[in-house]
Amino acid sequence: MTRRYGQTVALDNVSLNFPSGSFTSLLGPSGCGKTTMLRLIAGFEAPERGSVVFDGDTVADASRQMPPEKRGIGIVFQSYALWPHMDVAGNVAYPLATRGVAGKERDARVREVLSIVGLDGYQHRRIDELSGGQRQRVALARCLIANSRIILFDEPLANLDMHLRASMVEVFRDIHRRTGATMVYVTHDQAEALALSDRIAVMDGGRILQTAPPTDVYRSPACDKVAGFVGRGAILDGEIIGEHRGMAVVEIAGHRFEARCSGTPRNSVARILLRPEGLRLAETGMPARVVSSVYRGPVFEVVLALAGTQHDVVIDCVEAPAVGTDVRIAVCDAWVIPG
Ligand SMILES: Nc1ncnc2c1ncn2[C@@H]1O[C@H](COP(=O)(O)OP(=O)(O)OP(=O)(O)O)[C@@H](O)[C@H]1O
Ligand SMILES: [Mg+2]
Repeated sequence: MTRRYGQTVALDNVSLNFPSGSFTSLLGPSGCGKTTMLRLIAGFEAPERGSVVFDGDTVADASRQMPPEKRGIGIVFQSYALWPHMDVAGNVAYPLATRGVAGKERDARVREVLSIVGLDGYQHRRIDELSGGQRQRVALARCLIANSRIILFDEPLANLDMHLRASMVEVFRDIHRRTGATMVYVTHDQAEALALSDRIAVMDGGRILQTAPPTDVYRSPACDKVAGFVGRGAILDGEIIGEHRGMAVVEIAGHRFEARCSGTPRNSVARILLRPEGLRLAETGMPARVVSSVYRGPVFEVVLALAGTQHDVVIDCVEAPAVGTDVRIAVCDAWVIPG
């Protein structure tokens, strides 16, 4: 699909398949096209080129468009879009009113979805008497009551504090398990994307850089940008000088270690990703000097300048080595960035 706004290419020939029942996060910096992708799926925008297909049925292409309300999609936004003077039940039951569901059936459905989001007994509270997290749960309940097979989330937790975000992540996981709905979750918070999804599509500048399960995106990023955007670590210039049991033998500043790679390693210069957990202080290894040490709880994040290179690496230490100390580091895990 492609979508432009004037000179801006919001989505640049992007193709993405969402398997039924999957939980996909769209992760990327501000302006990379995440919301545009959701709006195209929901039907608030039309693709200029390409199409949107649900279960084999084309719902939109450059010439025709199924209206959003016909697509049967649930949407939860960052702003809750609730009616502040109506009570919780009135807000949650709204999608049922248009379908003629009323009375006992309506009340039972409201109780059921409020229980799923952890708001048992809140039916008669007014929206303006609720906290931000509770409001977001009401918005979620209103989305769930429609029983949509596809649910889109656009930064639903962006307004909440850290603790609420963590508890809402649990709620989303639980809802995905219970409903089996296909979920697409937009965020620029990598921790949320890693915790929630079966797969992450990392986006930049209207393109998808990598679509893979969270562990693959973290451990085996497809390019420098993904490596830099997800997780901490250093990207170093190195040289592949051989192969050992499918691993690349890499040399940096005269020191050798093995690194994971995609495909068969070929002797060449390469970009090497070193994550903190792939490094440790050791008796032998690459010489380095401690540049800084910051307590992050439960460990110190220690920055080390690698001797013979212009690069710093990061490791986590239970005890902080003093700044200026000379140490050695052993590489237990590394990744050759493809390309
Ligand atoms: N209605 C519009 N008119 C003009 N340009 C737009 C419009 N909507 C989006 N854009 C542009 O398209 C690009 C993608 O926007 P989009 O909203 O999809 O980004 P995003 O990834 O959701 O960003 P954020 O994380 O900030 O929400 C941006 O450069 C944006 O300025
Ligand atoms: Mg957005």
